[in-house]
Amino acid sequence: MTLQFFDFPAARDDLRADVLAGLAAQPKAIPPKYFYDEAGCRLFAAICAQPEYVLCRTERALMEQHLPEIAAAIGAVDCVIEPGAGDCLKVRALLGALHPDQLVVLDIAGAPLAAAAELLANDYPGVAVTALGMDFIHNLEAAAPYLTADRRLVYYPGSSIGNFAPADAAALLARFRQLAGEAGQLLIGFDLKKDPAQLHQAYNDGAGVTAAFNLNLLARLNRELDANFDLSQFRHYAFYNLIAGRIEMHLVSLVEQTVSVAGQRFHFNLGEALHTENSYKFRSDEFSAIAASAGWKLIRGWEREGFAVQLYG
Ligand code: TRP
Repeated sequence: MTLQFFDFPAARDDLRADVLAGLAAQPKAIPPKYFYDEAGCRLFAAICAQPEYVLCRTERALMEQHLPEIAAAIGAVDCVIEPGAGDCLKVRALLGALHPDQLVVLDIAGAPLAAAAELLANDYPGVAVTALGMDFIHNLEAAAPYLTADRRLVYYPGSSIGNFAPADAAALLARFRQLAGEAGQLLIGFDLKKDPAQLHQAYNDGAGVTAAFNLNLLARLNRELDANFDLSQFRHYAFYNLIAGRIEMHLVSLVEQTVSVAGQRFHFNLGEALHTENSYKFRSDEFSAIAASAGWKLIRGWEREGFAVQLYG
């Protein structure tokens, strides 16, 4: 097996500055990339197993169902790049079908990524695996020197693109374009607009795992920024904003309170929200327009049970 792991801690230590700025802003907001400490990664994997959160399972079933067609539409590829690869489970199906020389996986959670990439490298001895522990939103261009093979495919599954506002999503897709090169391709999965009641359920699972995931952000700030959030005084609140076309996740203060974070004090009013994430939902054509504005041309698309995977070149 060939595995190389490179850590970019310098590109990851903005936590303190981003959190202090986000808590001082009005409305208060913290970027969702900070969910993913080790506990956050474990909780995210648990979300994917909840009966209400069908996205992961639907995408996996779609990929299984259409894999031969998807692989045929992609054609010959030397290098697969997956930003935000996490546990590296999704890309496996693609590796078996495409047989690239190189796989480059990127994730802000460096240690879990290294562990997952090692399992992957063991199972796919023909693929040179390069794992980059980095905040790719910040630092994607730093991956370029590690790409040794041409004919590149960027794989961005899981509706992660929905966690960016449309203008930011377009900007990120344009950077994927740069990284993939003129002959490069993009295979991307996103959640489709559907019955709001169904969307609401997905982010409000009965076992409370999504709530625990959201609240873990505060626990992380307690651990890493010497904060004193009382988790029992905040409530997970997720709803579908029909006008904006997105799920919004917030942590709502259940009382008027003052919290200290890294030596600074922040006041929360009763009922005040700390906005932690958006998850945009798209119509197929709506998404293609965003991708087109980033220089990608639609090659083919597949849909299943309210989820879409599209191939761009
Ligand atoms: N990107 C996926 C989504 O928006 C997965 C995800 C990211 C998610 N953060 C989450 C799911 C928080 C539930 C809760 O659905």
